[in-house]
Amino acid sequence: MSKLIVANWKMNGSVNQVKADLAAYSASQSTNQPGVVLALPQVYLPLASQLLTQLNAQFKLASQNVSQFNKCGAYTGEVSADMLKEFAVDYIIIGHSERRQIFNESGSVLLNKIEAALLCGMTPIFCIGEDKSLRDQHNYTDFLVQQLELLLQIKLPLTNLVIAYEPIWAIGTGVIPSMEQIDEIMQLIHVFAQNYLPHVKVSVLYGGSVNGKNAQDILSISTVDGVLVGGASLKVDDFSKICAY
Ligand code: PGA
Repeated sequence: MSKLIVANWKMNGSVNQVKADLAAYSASQSTNQPGVVLALPQVYLPLASQLLTQLNAQFKLASQNVSQFNKCGAYTGEVSADMLKEFAVDYIIIGHSERRQIFNESGSVLLNKIEAALLCGMTPIFCIGEDKSLRDQHNYTDFLVQQLELLLQIKLPLTNLVIAYEPIWAIGTGVIPSMEQIDEIMQLIHVFAQNYLPHVKVSVLYGGSVNGKNAQDILSISTVDGVLVGGASLKVDDFSKICAY
């Protein structure tokens, strides 16, 4: 398996689930791979990084969020990239539509978060995606390019980047775009990256209602470098099926 399969647990899980799921993933060849990434709630990352060592696991850890502030200080409730780095975190999800919408994260906040991740040697998983009305009005490509343009403001050296296309209307709905619709946006992102980020290794993921049944079709699209999985990543069987595509 050479594609990237990212599990986004969102605000779900428990200590017991972390122990059980990570043990299961380390015991199976299809999930015990560096291309499998688990984005757990931050509070479980210390335990997960311990288990990673104990189990001699090959899969990687991601954080679902990071503070936009780099330096330690008076930021009650925040967790810095430096702190995450102590727990074997290799990736950070930034710009997820839930963070943009529910937590009002603006472009400048997202840019700070991307730079915080890069400063600590972690790879951002930058999410973009249009809502249903933009899709229905056929205005989605301009909107997506606008979201991508934030990446051009990054000042730090950039070598690796993951971009996840997650149409908001497909997240948690059970509705997925057609394979042609997915391919269209994957191509748009690849072309943008080739034009504007030519020296960066960019992987492009699809996310939104990916499950054990549809993953095979989605992952066989040649422009899809991987998937970002929410709901289905909470069930070992389903997630394992996706990893074994
Ligand atoms: P979903 O979520 O797979 O439950 O649709 C995907 C995501 O929000 O990353």
